[in-house]
Formats: sequence, structure tokens, C-alpha cells
Amino acid sequence: MTDLNAFIDELPKAELHVHIEGTLEPELMFALAERNGIALPYGSVEELRAAYSFKNLQEFLDLYYQGAQVLITRQDFYDLTMAYLKRAHADRVLHTEIFFDPQTHTERGIAFETVLDGITTALSDAAHELGLTSELILCFLRHLSEDDAIATYEMALPHRDRIAGFGLDSSEKGHPPAKFERVFTRVRADGFKVVAHAGEEGPPEYVRDALDLLKVDRIDHGNRALEDSALVERLAREAMPLTVCPLSNLSLAVVTDLADHPLRQMLDAGLVATLNSDDPAYFGGYVNQNYKETQSALSLTKDELALLARNSLTASFASPERKAELLGTLDSYLART
Ligand code: ADE
Ligand code: ZN
Repeated sequence: MTDLNAFIDELPKAELHVHIEGTLEPELMFALAERNGIALPYGSVEELRAAYSFKNLQEFLDLYYQGAQVLITRQDFYDLTMAYLKRAHADRVLHTEIFFDPQTHTERGIAFETVLDGITTALSDAAHELGLTSELILCFLRHLSEDDAIATYEMALPHRDRIAGFGLDSSEKGHPPAKFERVFTRVRADGFKVVAHAGEEGPPEYVRDALDLLKVDRIDHGNRALEDSALVERLAREAMPLTVCPLSNLSLAVVTDLADHPLRQMLDAGLVATLNSDDPAYFGGYVNQNYKETQSALSLTKDELALLARNSLTASFASPERKAELLGTLDSYLART
């Protein structure tokens, strides 16, 4: 369906679920390892790429945390972020909301400010140079303790003007939303947005708890919510956005075939689904590749593709003015295609 691929290429969209550490391409990993005098346990880019075969989320996370160790300086975080922003711009992403995992870096002795300054300098350069706007979301690692999350939150608070919200990622099973209820109560009281990975590998109860205990503004993934029809009805009634990541789900064996991806049921149930890349350097594609492969596997129509893009704009944390501008750009694109 080449004409729909061309439609996707130029479709104005937002990306709402991308981990900046998951955009670290093997080539950049090798370049940063060399720049920082770090030895990688792989002989070549090809050998590293060949290791990207995962049976589950944890197998991926082990490699992802290992890869992130080449990130040391402010410039490293800048280069990582700018490479992603340029790639997203090429996919006609007009607005992006980026996750970062500071605990992955502060645990290794990298200063929180080094991470934040590198990322946010790139975000502001991309806004000026590419017109690509962004928000930043700090994710707590759920395999660590809530006290560790609280300490990280306190590190972030002096920089609150550069952080839109807080999320929850890493190993889902055995680390339910309830473990982080206290820290998210503080996060919300301080006026931040809240998101959480839920229902990627974890059961539907984790999705319900993300809603009830963490009071999230969006659910990241949400696949397994489909196992519970009352929960699906609630997600539809509340127009709760889901940031869905099909190629990630395929790479991590959350689905065995894109043709069985729950996006079809999500759309049919009227859920506010969006398409995203999650960790594109590891999962074989940036956001447009997610649109294209999902379109082909699920026979998505042009109207459904347009709805997914519209959902990405309406579910974003952009200011009302920016949101109106983004929606105007989408509407004029749709009027001429
Ligand atoms: N961190 C990076 N990618 C993730 C994913 N897909 N699920 C949970 N944590 C992550
Ligand atoms: Zn994710």
C-alpha cells in the first residue's frame, strides 16, 4: 500500500512514548564508547545488532541498561537527543514527549544536571532549528525502591520548569503501581502530569491500579487491558489515552504477530490509541515504521491513520495554543490529501 505509506510519511504527528536511552543506535554507542574510553563487549556494530533478539522485556532491559553506560558527558546526552530529534523530524513528528531514566545514570555517578542539561539543550535547539516542540517526562525505575524514586524526585524538583511529568518504567511484573503510590501522590500535588507503563507484560489489574492509585493522565502500552471488558469500557468512557508501541510489542514477544496486535480491538472499542516507537534503536523502527507495519498488518484505513495522528496531538501535554496549531496543521494536511 505504497500510497498509504506516502500518506504516513507526511502525516503531521506527535510521538508520546519514546525512551531517549532507547534511541541510542549501535553506531553512536560505538562512537561514544570510543570517545569515553569504554570497552564494549561486542566487536562490531553488526555483532551488537545481532544481539538484539529478545524473549521478553527483561532480556531487552538488560542490554538497554548496559548500552546506556557509554553516556557520560553533557555532550553525549546532547548528541543522543539531537540524533533522535532529527530522525523524528524526518518522520514528520511535530511534537515529541521524551522519557528519560535518570536513575540509570545517577547510579553510575553521573550528575542529574549533566543528563538534564544535555537533553534539554538539544530540545531547545530542535525547537529553534526544526520547529519541533517537546516535553520531557522523568521515569522512575520500578525495579528500584520507592525511596529511591523519592530521592530522584527531590533531585528533579529544582529543575521543575524543564520537566512536564513523571512516569514509571522498567521491569513491570512484580512491581505494581501500588509500590509507587506515595511518590505519585506528591508528583500530582505539585502539579505535574503523570503517566505509567501498565499492561505491557503486567496484568489488567496494573492498568486499573495505574488509574485508581497513580491517577495517570495516560497509560503507556495498556495492551493487557483488553483482557478485561469492564476496564476497556472504562478506558473508553474516560477517553484515557494509550501510548501503543507495536514494533516494541513484537520485539518483546508481547504479541507474536502484528496481525494479532490489540490495536485493532482498541480502535474498534473507541479507545484513544496513539502509535509510538518506544526504543526505536532496539526494535527495528522509528514512529513511521510503526505506522506502516501496523497499517499493513491490520489493514488500517486512511481515516484510522488520521485518527491515530489526531489522538497523538490531542493526548499530548502541549500547551492549548500549541495543540491548536498542531491540529490546524493536521486538518490542512487532511484537507489536501
Ligand atoms: N524502558 C525502556 N523501554 C521500556 C519498555 N518497553 N517497558 C518498560 N520499561 C522500558
Ligand atoms: Zn516504554
